[in-house]
Amino acid sequence: MATAHKNTCVSGAGGASAPEPTPRPARGSDGDVPSPENLLREYNELRARFQRTTNALGSAAHDLKTPLSILNGYVEVLHSEKLGPLNDRQREVLRDMQSSGKRLQQFIQDFLTYSALETGGLRMQFEHGNINECLSEVCRLWSNHFQEKGLALYFLANDKLPAFPFDSPKLERVISNLLENAFKFTPPGGTVWLHAEPHMWDRRAAAVPSTAERRRQNLSHPNSVKVSVSDTGPGIPAEFHLEVFDDFFRLPGTESQEGMGLGLAIARRLVQGMGGKIWVESDPGVGCKFSFLVPYKPVPDKPVTAAASKGKNR
Ligand SMILES: Nc1ncnc2c1ncn2[C@@H]1O[C@H](COP(=O)(O)OP(=O)(O)OP(=O)(O)O)[C@@H](O)[C@H]1O
Ligand SMILES: [Mg+2]
Repeated sequence: MATAHKNTCVSGAGGASAPEPTPRPARGSDGDVPSPENLLREYNELRARFQRTTNALGSAAHDLKTPLSILNGYVEVLHSEKLGPLNDRQREVLRDMQSSGKRLQQFIQDFLTYSALETGGLRMQFEHGNINECLSEVCRLWSNHFQEKGLALYFLANDKLPAFPFDSPKLERVISNLLENAFKFTPPGGTVWLHAEPHMWDRRAAAVPSTAERRRQNLSHPNSVKVSVSDTGPGIPAEFHLEVFDDFFRLPGTESQEGMGLGLAIARRLVQGMGGKIWVESDPGVGCKFSFLVPYKPVPDKPVTAAASKGKNR
């Protein structure tokens, strides 16, 4: 069976100095059996070390952000020919610089979000609104890319969806990460659908209803929205349906594609921060369908942390 690959998270960025000592093995006084106290101490040491590394990563990413956006701004000015005409070769070089700059900006943004999620610095900001507007905005931003690659992207606003409180920028981020994957992994000529519909999420209902009652409620009392992104790409084998949401996870054979394996992990945490859940269904060779649920009633505002949310999706 193929083995999964995870990128290695490089520590020590952003001014982190000498490598920290590896915590001593958690052995008990009899020399063999680790005591609960030792295990707990070791866990806390590792956790603190991980937090420091994540903070360093976040501050390095933050320091890179401003100079990079200045560089990108100058490249854009040059490319617009406001400072003088360009020949074809110069235009081509600047176009490459522009797309590399954007890619780097996206990486940095991913690290910042990851670091904020890890350290609990990201809070949800729910505002009453129409989710259709949020979905069509993300579609609009992606439509040119899809067209250029020869991919069809379909989205039809669903007027059955009520207005409810949600965090629009974070929801856009989740959908954008899913569309980015569909775009990246679906070969030209393929099709991608973005779809949203009202949904009755049983676990969210106050009492467990009977099957007949549930069927009736499904139609009349939805308590959440279900958003799906489906594609006609290579799909994902069943044994990786949980792992794809882990940090730095990439399927074997997809390492040549750009990316760090963070997009789905970030999406998972954001969805969980909204009180929802995310999953994938797929038949390899036929495509895949990523779906997530967001309840109409948001969870009380609390920081979204990796530690708090890890594994809850499962
Ligand atoms: N639509 C898809 N079709 C096929 N494989 C997918 C799809 N979406 C995700 N995957 C697999 O899951 C892995 C993890 O996805 P994820 O979005 O977390 O990372 P990435 O796209 O590789 O990098 P990043 O999102 O950080 O740029 C991908 O590398 C790919 O192997
Ligand atoms: Mg991705």
